[in-house]
Amino acid sequence: MKALNPVEFLRSLRGVIDGKIDIPQSLKDNQVLQVLLNRRSMRSFQQRDIPDDVFTAVLEAARVAPNAINSQSWSFGIYDQLKWKETFGSSMPFKANRGVIILGDMNRVRQAIDEFPYKPLVEYTLCVMNASIAAYAMNIAAEACGVASVMLLDTGRSGFYDACYLKEKLDFPEGVFPVMTIVFGYPKGKALGMPPKWPLEEIVFTGKYKQPDKTVMKRWLQQMMAAYRAAFVTRSLQGQMQHYLSKVDNAEKGLRDLIFYRPEESAKLDK
Ligand SMILES: Cc1cc2nc3c(=O)[nH]c(=O)nc-3n(C[C@H](O)[C@H](O)[C@H](O)COP(=O)(O)O)c2cc1C
Repeated sequence: MKALNPVEFLRSLRGVIDGKIDIPQSLKDNQVLQVLLNRRSMRSFQQRDIPDDVFTAVLEAARVAPNAINSQSWSFGIYDQLKWKETFGSSMPFKANRGVIILGDMNRVRQAIDEFPYKPLVEYTLCVMNASIAAYAMNIAAEACGVASVMLLDTGRSGFYDACYLKEKLDFPEGVFPVMTIVFGYPKGKALGMPPKWPLEEIVFTGKYKQPDKTVMKRWLQQMMAAYRAAFVTRSLQGQMQHYLSKVDNAEKGLRDLIFYRPEESAKLDK
């Protein structure tokens, strides 16, 4: 990842600022679309409580979210600031007001239907699909109530990168995996602008798969570096990649142990 020179930085930043959401004039007053399209991850929160009824509505949106085979293969660990501190010994990320640790969970549905065979990758994929949709339902329900949030892989040792730590700490049984954490709060200030997104024509295809356009990729990477530098000043995209690389081996190992939770049966799957 080559650092940007000042001209590239300014040109890329301009590109980020110019990034627009494309909403047809005929739909611009549609409130659901507005919530969806204007949503941004928020990392700065007021020290103001989210009322219980609002938080319950957020959780209810997840409870009724679409999911494969109506298996509802999820559980949600819910925390206020006190409970988070008590459990993990640290403040909630970004000093948010409420946090939800979203788990993929085959334990519950397996107790209801014992025919589910041990197929760890299918099980894990299904859990991740369902839990991610539930997470997004929470995110959008919160936005609709004026509450902002950010989904997190990394919350110190309590996140997805340290899945086995979380398993021990929260006492997960077999078939339960952390997927992500979301923290919520009333937004403090304005969210950062929209980070650079691929243009629609780059990511859609019809018929056969279309290979990425290298010029678009390069432009995007430069915009990411510029946006990162402008938003965080003391941090860089390169630094963020280093952080990811420092965590990923441990995460990979931990997840293998969690996903293939019956090693003897896993060995038989290869035969
Ligand atoms: C599964 C998932 C994990 C994420 N993990 C983190 C994280 O650990 N730290 C963080 O600051 N943002 C995290 N984010 C937020 C993304 O950085 C953010 O969604 C992305 O940059 C796009 O910005 P936007 O949500 O404002 O469109 C995560 C988002 C998702 C969906």
